[in-house]
Amino acid sequence: MIKTVSITLQVVASFWQEYQPECRIKSKLGTICIFRKPKTQQEICHCLDKVSYMKDAVFDDFIDRLRSESDIVSIVSDYVSLKKKGKNFWGCCPFHSEKTPSFSVNPDKGFFYCFGCQTGGNVFNFLMRVENITFFEAVKLLATKLNIPLPEREKTPREQAKEQELARIYQVNELARDFFHACLTKTNYGIPAREYLANRGISAETIDFLKLGFAPPLWDKLSLTLSERGIPLDILLKSGLSAPRNSGDGVYDRFRNRIIFPISDVRGRIIGFGGRVLDNSQPKYLNSPETEVFNKRHVLYGFDNAYKHIRDLGQVVIVEGYMDVITLYTQGVKNVVASLGTAFTPEQARNLIKLNAELLFSYDSDAAGQNATVRALDTVRSLGGTIKVVTIPDGKDPDEFVRKHSSQSFQELLKSAQPLLDYQLDQALKSDDYSTVQGKIAVVGKLTPILAETDNAVAVNAHITRLSQVLAVDESALRSEIRKYIVQFKKDKNVKSGKPINIALLYKQPTPAVIQAERQLIRLMCDDLSLIPYILAKLSPQEIQGTLQQEIINFIVNAYNMENQVTQAAITAGVNSLSEKANNEFSQIMLMENQFDDVVQLVDDCIKTIRLAHLTTLYEQHRLMADELERMGDSNFLQELAESQRIKHEISKLHH
Ligand code: UTP
Ligand code: MN
Repeated sequence: MIKTVSITLQVVASFWQEYQPECRIKSKLGTICIFRKPKTQQEICHCLDKVSYMKDAVFDDFIDRLRSESDIVSIVSDYVSLKKKGKNFWGCCPFHSEKTPSFSVNPDKGFFYCFGCQTGGNVFNFLMRVENITFFEAVKLLATKLNIPLPEREKTPREQAKEQELARIYQVNELARDFFHACLTKTNYGIPAREYLANRGISAETIDFLKLGFAPPLWDKLSLTLSERGIPLDILLKSGLSAPRNSGDGVYDRFRNRIIFPISDVRGRIIGFGGRVLDNSQPKYLNSPETEVFNKRHVLYGFDNAYKHIRDLGQVVIVEGYMDVITLYTQGVKNVVASLGTAFTPEQARNLIKLNAELLFSYDSDAAGQNATVRALDTVRSLGGTIKVVTIPDGKDPDEFVRKHSSQSFQELLKSAQPLLDYQLDQALKSDDYSTVQGKIAVVGKLTPILAETDNAVAVNAHITRLSQVLAVDESALRSEIRKYIVQFKKDKNVKSGKPINIALLYKQPTPAVIQAERQLIRLMCDDLSLIPYILAKLSPQEIQGTLQQEIINFIVNAYNMENQVTQAAITAGVNSLSEKANNEFSQIMLMENQFDDVVQLVDDCIKTIRLAHLTTLYEQHRLMADELERMGDSNFLQELAESQRIKHEISKLHH
């Protein structure tokens, strides 16, 4: 049920997200809907029905109208100067720095695509990226630009009250930030803190720029001051700045006698604080508790300042602490954020990966930092970002390193950052004495799952070769271990964690010819929507080998299945539900030059190429599986063998 309703609802879902943020339901292709606490399957379906009704009634028309009334060339021209060349317009990409234009806009299809940084999408995607806003905000912005009023939904009194409360929390946080800052810079209480910061090399300009502060060594100075300014008690408590006294009478300040680091969200709103002691007392740092605006799983310290630089450089340096961010940023490494403490969360990762940035982990060099690195890598590995690890050779953390050496030296460290696999390989080799047989077994045991789950066949092969040399173990023995792991993984139906492994990836990537056929097919489908039922009758989306191309075809098929037809508008608007990479790929496909006489013949050719490649892969998979099972003395190998023969027969039929 949930599957069939899927994709085009994305549009509505984002719209509703603003209002009903309590429960998300996700499809494979991203968030499809967000509801207020539906508890049972039935309730969910009921909600989905309502949403799909909403979509027909209001939102579809609205998005359609925005799309048809907006001219992508003129919207993009607000940010990029474009020149017409052939059918498309060209300019310098706003998402990466370049001198010769590789950014193109196709006015007929309504897409943009950069051949330099592979970023692309529709007019909504463009605004989302260039302004760093959500889909809903992009809809609002476009509506404003086109002077079209938004379809309003009355907010319930409860929703209005909630909005007001959040606004008051931001406001009280801002007042507190100013209070702490004044206390540090203007009062006698601040003297020891000013000295402390000066000793750590933090200048007055930095204090002003980051609005660092000091919480006085008094029990309720902040709470009293804010109360006098009319802030009600419940807001003080909800902001986490005050806590109730045990006696049950009144409140006291959470932060006392600490240097204060205000924490902003990416829009610059103050969401919480960190406070550091001046001496060696514990805890060294105290942070705001979880509040309605401070969610530790999402917080990245320094993100508000670093955001622009991360996007420009396509790279983000992730450190552990406040001081690391401050030192790096002020010394010119501006694409830096801190995960604050040790556990790096998928939420934090996603916010960074969204910017198309490579993640450079630069955690402390002590054991705790290294353990945190290993855990963080486990968290991000499956999310698909490019990951590297920086090892600090001298000093405890980036802050110390830069002070001992220079930011130049730190930049050098960044350049020599190790790719994820290399780092994990080194870690495994470090932790065991691989001159012994036991040690070799331990190292191989650690690396097998990592190699088996890595999608990049080239990297895997390179590492198998290196590992074989270092360990003095046969390459074929290593490959056999990896295969065994995969077979075991596939057989063990109870495995819940980890992602399913595509055995084919270890041996073969789709060839460029197959990918080209798949792209061609997508383009043909979109140019002539009436081809979709014809293609679907002949080809199953599972046969598509390119992961991005498969995601795109699935998206089109889902859109089609919704109503047994699909409009150009639904496709253009719906691409926001695609993953970023698929969306980029889709835009590139839409910008291909495409003119053919016999379209049906071309479709048939594409399908044949795709089917052959699919069958060949299947054949190889079953052969490998049969070999492996036979070696392990598992009689199931006969079935695998029979299946591989059947496929081989199909392949030869297709050839003739
Ligand atoms: P560190 O102990 O490495 O601190 O903790 P640091 O950043 O190097 O700080 P300085 O240089 O001693 O001033 C790293 C981060 O872990 C969190 C803080 O966010 C800190 O910046 N942390 C640490 C806490 O939240 N609480 C603590 O008690 C300690
Ligand atoms: Mn430190």
